[in-house]
Amino acid sequence: MAKQMILCLISIPLFSRALLPPPAVYLTPRAQRSLATATATATANSISKNDRMIKKKTKKQKSEEKKKAELLAVKRKKEKRRTRSEKEFGSTTSFEFDNNENHIPVLLGEVVDVFSSLNLRSFVDCTLGAAGHSSAIIQAHPELENYVGMDVDPVAHAKARAHIDALLHSHFHLKANTFLRNFKHIKSLLAEADPSLLHSGVDAILMDLGMSSMQVNNPERGFSVLANGPLDMRMDPQVTLKAEDILNCWPDTEVGRVLREYGEESNWRLLQNKIVQARLHGGLHSTGDLVDLIRNVTHGMRGGRQGWIKTATRVFQALRIAVNDELNTLEKSLNACFECLAPGGRLAVISFHSLEDRIVKQTFLNIIETDRGDGDVDVEERGGREIRKTEDESDAKEMWIRSMVHGRNGTILTKRPITPSEEEEKLNSRSRSAKLRVIERV
Ligand SMILES: C[S@@+](CC[C@H](N)C(=O)[O-])C[C@H]1O[C@@H](n2cnc3c(N)ncnc32)[C@H](O)[C@@H]1O
Repeated sequence: MAKQMILCLISIPLFSRALLPPPAVYLTPRAQRSLATATATATANSISKNDRMIKKKTKKQKSEEKKKAELLAVKRKKEKRRTRSEKEFGSTTSFEFDNNENHIPVLLGEVVDVFSSLNLRSFVDCTLGAAGHSSAIIQAHPELENYVGMDVDPVAHAKARAHIDALLHSHFHLKANTFLRNFKHIKSLLAEADPSLLHSGVDAILMDLGMSSMQVNNPERGFSVLANGPLDMRMDPQVTLKAEDILNCWPDTEVGRVLREYGEESNWRLLQNKIVQARLHGGLHSTGDLVDLIRNVTHGMRGGRQGWIKTATRVFQALRIAVNDELNTLEKSLNACFECLAPGGRLAVISFHSLEDRIVKQTFLNIIETDRGDGDVDVEERGGREIRKTEDESDAKEMWIRSMVHGRNGTILTKRPITPSEEEEKLNSRSRSAKLRVIERV
C-alpha cells in the first residue's frame, strides 16, 4: 500500500506536467532567473557562433579577395612591363597568298608599322618561315630594291621562296636572294648576296624567332607535345644532334642543366633522374615516350592535366633550345645584325619566351650603351600613357612608339616590348607570348 502511495505521489507531477501548459509559467522566480540566464547565454552563444561563421565567411572572402588582388597586381605589373598593341586586328593582320592559303604571321600589322616610316631600299628577313612578314613588307614598300631572306629549314625555305617568287612578277626591279642558312651567318650571306649591302648597311632587319606552324603541326619534326613522333626537334636537318641524343646519351648533370636553364623547370632533378633511369629500359625514342614519363612524374601533383601539359611544354622548350643552340646563336646574331644596319636602320625582333626576350632586352641595352644600364631614361608620362621624350618632333609622328631608350650607338624604340592586341591573342593563341622589340642605329 505504501509502495502504491509513493508511486502515485511521483506520477501526479509527471502526469500533470504532461497536461499542463508550458512549464515556464510554473517556474519559481529563482528558476525563472536561472532559465533567463541560460537562455541569454545560449542565445549569446548561438549569436557568437553565427557571428563567427559570418566572420569565418568574411575571412574566406577576404582571402579570396586578397588572392584576386594579388593576381590583378601581377597582371598590372606584367601590363606595365609591356605595351599591349592597340592596333586594330585588320587587313594587314592576316596575310592571304595568291593560292588562297591563309597564313597569320604574329604581330604583322605592328611589324609593318615599325618599318613604315623608312624609305626601305634593303630589307633582310632572318627567319623566313612561310614569308608572311616578308611578303607584307615587300608589298608595303614598292621602293624596295634589295631583299635577302634566310631560314635553316628546307621546307620553310622552299615555301618562302615560292611566295617571294610570286611577288617578283609585280616587283620586277626587286633583287631577291634567299638562303637555306642559319642567321648567325648574316654577314657572309649579305656579302654573298650583294657586297654593297655590307658596305652601306641595310635599312631593316626582322627576326621572328621560334617555330613556324609548319614545324609544330608536323608530328615528324617532334616539336609537338600533343602529337606522337620521333624525338627530333631540329630546325636544321643538317645538324646531327637530336632531342633523343640528349635524353639517352648526355651526362645526367647536363640533362638536368638543360631542363633547369632552358625550361626553367622546378622539377628538373626528379625529371633528370627518371630520364636517366629510363635508359636502363632502353631509353626514350618518341615524343609519346617522353610525354608518358612526364605524366608519371607529375601524376598527383597540383594542376591536373594543365600540370603535366605545362611541364611537358617546358621540357620540350628546353630540349628544342638545346638541340638548336638557340640562345647562344641569338645573342651573337643580334650583335651581328645591328652591325649590318645602315645609319637610321632598324632591327625588329619577335620573341616567344622569357629567356629569349631577356636576351633581346639585355643585348639591345648593351648595344646602344646607355649611361644608365637600367633603361629607365628619358620617359615622360602624359594622361596615364607613357610618351617618349624626344628632341626630334618628326619622330613623334610614329604613333606606335611610346617610350624610347637613347644610347651612344642607337635607340631602343620599344622601352617596353609591344605585345599582341587582345583580339589577336584570341584569334591566334600562338601569339599569346609574343614580344616585339625594336632598335634603331644612330
Ligand atoms: C616563327 S617562324 C617565322 C615565320 C615568318 N615570319 C612568317 O611570317 O611566315 C620562325 C622561322 O625561323 C627559322 N629559324 C629559327 N632559327 C633560325 C636560325 N638560327 N637561322 C635561320 N632560321 C631560323 C625557323 O626554321 C622558322 O621557319
